[in-house]
Amino acid sequence: MFDSNFLSDGPLTVRFEEAFAEFNKIPYAVALSSGGTGLLGILEFLDVRGKEVIVPTNTFMATPLAVRRAGGKIVFADCSRKDLCVTADEIMRLAGQDTKAAIVVHIGGHITFQIEEIAAFCTAKGIALVEDCAHAHGASYHGKAAGSWGVAGAYSFYATKTMPTGEGGMVITHQQELADWLKVWRNYGKKVEQVRGKSLISYPLLNGFHARMPEAVAALGIVQLHRLPEILEWKRVLAAKYDHIFENRIRLPDGMESGLYKYIVFDYPLKERTGSVFGELCHWFLHDGRSYQESEWVAAHHCCPPIYYGWDGAELSVEELRARLL
Ligand SMILES: Cc1ncc(COP(=O)(O)O)c(C=O)c1O
Repeated sequence: MFDSNFLSDGPLTVRFEEAFAEFNKIPYAVALSSGGTGLLGILEFLDVRGKEVIVPTNTFMATPLAVRRAGGKIVFADCSRKDLCVTADEIMRLAGQDTKAAIVVHIGGHITFQIEEIAAFCTAKGIALVEDCAHAHGASYHGKAAGSWGVAGAYSFYATKTMPTGEGGMVITHQQELADWLKVWRNYGKKVEQVRGKSLISYPLLNGFHARMPEAVAALGIVQLHRLPEILEWKRVLAAKYDHIFENRIRLPDGMESGLYKYIVFDYPLKERTGSVFGELCHWFLHDGRSYQESEWVAAHHCCPPIYYGWDGAELSVEELRARLL
């Protein structure tokens, strides 16, 4: 960092972006200041102003707030008990003439079970599909990474995430136009081009703002990405033990590799647990006034035994874990 003299928007950011794109087998990745600015940037690119955007109520407030900040109209969707994510039927029910985009949130670390049907429906209807991948580092379905089905996917590197850098986010996409646009948007809309050996500055976007990733964060990201396979393996070993203890749990379909941000079970009186996904629903906070039965059931019944990297119980046997947690 000191060698390059760049504290942001420098060579470490580029290296992190290239490595993250390669890890997720996708052509473009753009580093940003957070997962939330990633969602906001995608929605501003899509220009959802005045248009409806379907969003699950079972998510963190970052998801609907990004829609609101981009000027879109939030249309809440219910979730399924099978995966805690939105279903294709629910998106079909809510999609109308004014629907510009739909956001799926890959809750807890696995990919939305019906992502393929949802993507096919959105493509057929001209609805932009956006993936909130804040929980889904290292997740894949039939070999495809979270963020590969829609227009783009937004990852977060917030402190609690599977691959933390403290703060930070990354958008992955197949679209070069979106990637180029985000790189300008994240820097107050400023574009710098080299023309005949001179830097030419212009402001092609007037809605840009500050969403840059510092080079120090990008350096951490490069190291964390290198460690991610080891972190995922650690989680998979613990999850395999939990599979022997918890009958009543989320069961992954064939071809699904969860990133195991959380391990989700139902109706267990756990003596130790980590934060749920989510105990409070966004439509409550935003006073939507409607009822979303499946999400409300999930909020009341699910819980998560610890699976965060470094938890001191991970080495215990199945029987020892059972005794510690139940
Ligand atoms: C589902 C979800 N989406 C988006 C975010 C926002 O990420 P960030 O805090 O990096 O803005 C988070 C968590 O922080 C999240 O849990």
